[in-house]
Amino acid sequence: MFSRILITGGAGFIGSHLSDELLARGYKVRVIDSLLPQVHGASQQRPEYLCDDVELIVGDVRDEELMAKALDGVDAVFHLAAAVGVGQSMYQIANYSDANCLGTATLVELLAKRSVAKLVVASSMSVYGEGLYRSSSGEIHQGVERKLDQLKRREWEVCGQDGERLQPIPTPESKTPSVASVYALSKYYQERLCLATGPAYGIPTIALRFFNVYGARQALSNPYTGVMAIFSSRILNDRAPLVNEDGQQHRDFIYVKDVALACRLALESEDSSGCVFNVGTGTCCTIEKLARDLARYLDHEDLEPEITGRYRIGDIRHCFADISRARGILGFRPRYSLEAGLTEMLDWLAEQTAEDLAHAASHELMKRGLSG
Ligand SMILES: NC(=O)c1ccc[n+]([C@@H]2O[C@H](COP(=O)([O-])OP(=O)(O)OC[C@H]3O[C@@H](n4cnc5c(N)ncnc54)[C@H](O)[C@@H]3O)[C@@H](O)[C@H]2O)c1
Repeated sequence: MFSRILITGGAGFIGSHLSDELLARGYKVRVIDSLLPQVHGASQQRPEYLCDDVELIVGDVRDEELMAKALDGVDAVFHLAAAVGVGQSMYQIANYSDANCLGTATLVELLAKRSVAKLVVASSMSVYGEGLYRSSSGEIHQGVERKLDQLKRREWEVCGQDGERLQPIPTPESKTPSVASVYALSKYYQERLCLATGPAYGIPTIALRFFNVYGARQALSNPYTGVMAIFSSRILNDRAPLVNEDGQQHRDFIYVKDVALACRLALESEDSSGCVFNVGTGTCCTIEKLARDLARYLDHEDLEPEITGRYRIGDIRHCFADISRARGILGFRPRYSLEAGLTEMLDWLAEQTAEDLAHAASHELMKRGLSG
């Protein structure tokens, strides 16, 4: 049993739900969060959704002195603080590298001096690049990727060397990572740094690779965050969701409360030290279907998704999780189907106003030649 748990980035979307999950189990929760304006708005106020029982320290994980205070009396750490936009990371390269890599390095250097009983680091499905594929003969393909020329020809699917279209299959943790963005590289760095240094200092350490997380409290006006938030903000502004490529990309959408559950199970598990776990549902949905479902749930069936035929460099075609390892070792069973998750988040969504910045964000990528 742990007494006080620190969540870095705990005022954000996933961290705040994790706080609720931990408080409900009787843990004391402390959060350190810089309240980034892109996520929390210019006022950088303590978010209303953050439970009053959470002790919030406002500051940056790279601030060594403050981090030392944040770690005082703490016996477990969830490291969630990160800059999170895949597209944005491709031009704010120094900022993403600094926040995510130096932030993690600062944390583990302090942990080397004052040990904790558990470290859980938030990693990402983005470390895989493309998911795992199989050809019609049953051969497994990993390390496949789409070249820029192919995207320019609007040929979206992943093919083998003989030109055969490959079928996506669930991606297990054993798939070799293939990072396609600065964000993905920084998440892989965070994960590896924690797994390499934690055990060296006797700290049981676990990395969780979150798939596409959705739910209440996602920063809807942040155009660099997940596709669910971006589509929601379009629809709430009476605009059609903008769907890249042909909309047939597959992703694994996991409800945020299930992610919080997986985090707690990782904290409490006794025989998972040094492990990496996928945190997804093990099912998948196309981006077009998601856009349609969201519009329907928000009473906007009239807003037919706009299939743009555009691509973004660094985007992958298909990736969804194989969650056998988390199921077997952590006893993780996602409780929410996509329908159940959307239904539960609907009340919150319907009350939101959001600034639709999707066009501005895509313009930023276009002018740098990062999409087409
Ligand atoms: N949301 C997803 O779909 C998803 C998928 C894979 C991985 N992840 C990972 O999960 C974690 C949480 O993501 P989220 O979706 O809740 O994002 P979020 O932006 O809502 O939360 C991140 C929080 O970290 C804070 N933060 C950022 N940089 C900081 C710094 N240098 N010091 C202190 N605080 C800082 C932000 O203010 C924010 O509150 C991140 O590590 C992210 O990479 C998220």
